[in-house]
Amino acid sequence: MYHRIWTFSNFLLIIGSIIYIWFFRPHDSILIVISQFSAQIAMILFIFNVNMYFIFLLIRKTKQRKVKIRLATFSRYFMKWHIKIAITATLLIIGHSWINLFKIGPILGYGHIKMLMGYTSFIFLLVTLFAGYLRHKKASGFRKKFHRIIAMTFTVIFLIHMLIPI
Ligand code: HEM
Ligand code: HEM
Repeated sequence: MYHRIWTFSNFLLIIGSIIYIWFFRPHDSILIVISQFSAQIAMILFIFNVNMYFIFLLIRKTKQRKVKIRLATFSRYFMKWHIKIAITATLLIIGHSWINLFKIGPILGYGHIKMLMGYTSFIFLLVTLFAGYLRHKKASGFRKKFHRIIAMTFTVIFLIHMLIPI
């Protein structure tokens, strides 16, 4: 049952964001379209990484041995990409933030809620990366929890940032 909700949420997030960004937020400036495109790709990559939580959860919870083994193999393969995905997405977000700070900031005002939630998302991204780094070096119970909670909080905050209209 839960895996249905999980699949549906992923589908909704990815298809929903594509529809929202490309049909409801059109721009003429090519730079701004590049910034939107970078943010779109980055957010899909972040969602990929966040999904590791649900994969590990399913591995712990499932009673079917076959499913357990299949998911474990899958997660081992995916974790090889986890850090590369995080770094690529972060570079895309740096481009996104840069363009918006210089192109949209002056028009919208640096105190606009869209901008404020952008800075907040960025700070949470840095903390997530740091927590991931700590966990990678030495995985203690606290570090595992810290990376997981911060990653989830970051996701909620960037989704709010994305949905705020300007
Ligand atoms: C200093 C940091 C940031 C600033 C100043 C910023 C600013 C902005 C602005 C002004 C827009 C609206 C552009 C438009 O109308 O097309 C936007 C859109 C977006 N941002 Fe950010 N952002 C920042 C960080 C982030 C982060 C960390 C994420 C995480 C994934 C993110 C994800 C998105 C997404 C997905 C959109 C597309 C939605 C839309 O076009 O309204 N941004 N950002
Ligand atoms: C900003 C992007 C990132 C997001 C959204 C993210 C998210 C997650 C999530 C949700 C989990 C599963 C946690 C659990 O169930 O306990 C996880 C695991 C992990 N992450 Fe990240 N992470 C990111 C970046 C990083 C970075 C940069 C590193 C390392 C430098 C890292 C290292 C790890 C490690 C080592 C695990 C544990 C894998 C295992 O148990 O085998 N993460 N991450």
